[in-house]
Amino acid sequence: MDVLVVDHPLARARLTTMRDARADNATFRAALHELTVMLVYEAMRGAPVTTERVHTPVARTVGYRLANPPLLVPVLRAGLGMADQAHKLIPEAQMGFVGLARDETTLRPTPYLESLPESVADRPVLVLDPMLATGGSMAHTITLLTERGATDVTAVCALAAPEGIRHLEESGLPVRLVTASVDERLNDSGYIVPGLGDAGDRQYGAV
Ligand code: URA
Repeated sequence: MDVLVVDHPLARARLTTMRDARADNATFRAALHELTVMLVYEAMRGAPVTTERVHTPVARTVGYRLANPPLLVPVLRAGLGMADQAHKLIPEAQMGFVGLARDETTLRPTPYLESLPESVADRPVLVLDPMLATGGSMAHTITLLTERGATDVTAVCALAAPEGIRHLEESGLPVRLVTASVDERLNDSGYIVPGLGDAGDRQYGAV
């Protein structure tokens, strides 16, 4: 699986703000918004474009548009904090939603929402989830997408654990990963170490 680590100094700085346990919910959300812009920007770097003529106030020149805007799929709850920023960057994109809760005993994803187009055979998909931990939620989401014909999926995650990357590699699913960091490991509770804690709670407060 292709893994792109976006280690730009600005991405590192935003991730550091998110890691800091003293950051309040608003500070954490703002840093995630800004990091999302950087990750999605890099995820779209190789996207095909169409050309068109454009008249500037001075001359005619060649302009560019996305040939095939992606489907954006935030994984709720934590992925919600990436959705608006990704959409601002790619206003032409459609958005689907997958809702998964983590069973804290088995650490397995429990689906509660699936709102996706019938077919995604003809377009790229960006799955937005701040944390790639065990890889269970991401693999579940990508499986839903491949059942609808997806062949070009990018997981956009603030942080990834080696265990989650291995899970995706072993799944054989058609996915590449764009992340700001591959951390050390998962702990016994399934949290990424050093990580940043629970990305949903850090954005919205513990419920
Ligand atoms: N989900 C989170 O929000 N944080 C982790 O560290 C692992 C999974």
